Amino acid sequence: MSLRVLTGITTTGTPHLGNYAGAIRPAIHASTQPGVDAFFFLADYHALIKCDDPQRILRSRLEIAATWIAGGLDTDKVTFYRQSDIPQIPELCWMLTCVTAKGLMNRAHAYKASVDQNVSKNVEADDGITLGLFSYPVLMAADILMFNANKVPVGRDQIQHLEMTRDIAQRFNHLYGQGKEFFSLPEAQVDDEVATLPGLDGRKMSKSYNNTIPLFEGGAKATRAAIMRIVTDSRQPGEPKNALDSHIYTLYKAFSRPDEAVQFRADLEQGMGWGDAKQTLFERIERDLAPMRERYDELMAAPDRIEEILLAGAQKARKLAQPFMEQLREAVGLSNAGLAAGAQHPGKAQGSSSKKPRFVSFKDDDGSFRFRLLDAAGQQLLLSASFDSPQAAGKTIKRLQGGLPDTAFTQAATDVVLTLDGAEVARFDALRLAEVQEALAQF
Ligand code: TRP
Repeated sequence: MSLRVLTGITTTGTPHLGNYAGAIRPAIHASTQPGVDAFFFLADYHALIKCDDPQRILRSRLEIAATWIAGGLDTDKVTFYRQSDIPQIPELCWMLTCVTAKGLMNRAHAYKASVDQNVSKNVEADDGITLGLFSYPVLMAADILMFNANKVPVGRDQIQHLEMTRDIAQRFNHLYGQGKEFFSLPEAQVDDEVATLPGLDGRKMSKSYNNTIPLFEGGAKATRAAIMRIVTDSRQPGEPKNALDSHIYTLYKAFSRPDEAVQFRADLEQGMGWGDAKQTLFERIERDLAPMRERYDELMAAPDRIEEILLAGAQKARKLAQPFMEQLREAVGLSNAGLAAGAQHPGKAQGSSSKKPRFVSFKDDDGSFRFRLLDAAGQQLLLSASFDSPQAAGKTIKRLQGGLPDTAFTQAATDVVLTLDGAEVARFDALRLAEVQEALAQF
């Protein structure tokens, strides 16, 4: 039995050194352990809650993906994907929303903090609070339950969300399981061993404190410049320093072997100057970062490569999500035979070609063969007539892809009939004609 570990990263910012040591590095390490089946995803639907700048979200997704890959994530072994590539997640989110007590969400820390702020500012309690923020623990529950994760590595601030996830999962199991547990109950994994890095001013390194040390952005130069700005006491070179009180020592320890840290501490206690200490710290960190930064820069220069990796990850994730969602739909009374027919080709319907129109062929209930033409968003543009064999259907698809004379289309009342060699191939609403022609032109 493998342990399924899952965590999400909200895509609103650029990873810094604290993110790397506190979350990325330990997660990548955990994913290499035997018996661990790791799921890591870019929580870009979550990003919309906090950020309405599309460019920033796009950029952040790339940077975070590139950072994880450059950091050594084995994307063949783990499942690494983008939340918004898995349509089953928002679908599950809605099912869960419908079984979640509003009162439970009223108690969420993030929401309550916003209300408290409003009250202290003497404005309406819910001022500026969206339903996205309010119900965000449900989306998080969907992220986790979609893949039935056992362990969810998170920061302390997220423990409550895991409690809510268990609550919601139990409620769904109880209402719809009929003795079956659709969802297993996940646990938060808060690791005290993991380094929480101090920032330039000694407070926790965080974008909101504006005290971060860059990881890859700006190159080694930017990392070094930030390290040189770390606040120290005024002790001069030659004066003994108290290593345990020094953020520089804490940072050094987070990147070094124990014997290196012992040496660094001894050097400080024997009077190493802060300038030298910072240089030594920079060189130690750089030993780890330099090869990763090289990979990072390569990836950022080839966003198509990142996209490819993410789409392959999404395909892996959907392979699990799609059949599970079919069970869940059935459980709540939303099973749909038509949808199931369309779902016979999940790879084609949702794969890497998702930005182009496409043909999807299938075997109809009556044993004949048909195909659909779908637009880039997966909407059906036309449904073909019946064919005797998949080969006959395939041959027609080839013909349609090869370009058609305008005379292939004739109007019949409110329909347009598409005819090839005198045989009717498809019939669709005349209002769709422009879209169909546009789609066909893209092959
Ligand atoms: N809410 C998490 C955070 O702010 C990110 C996140 C979204 C997440 N969905 C998740 C973490 C699912 C773990 C599991 O850090």
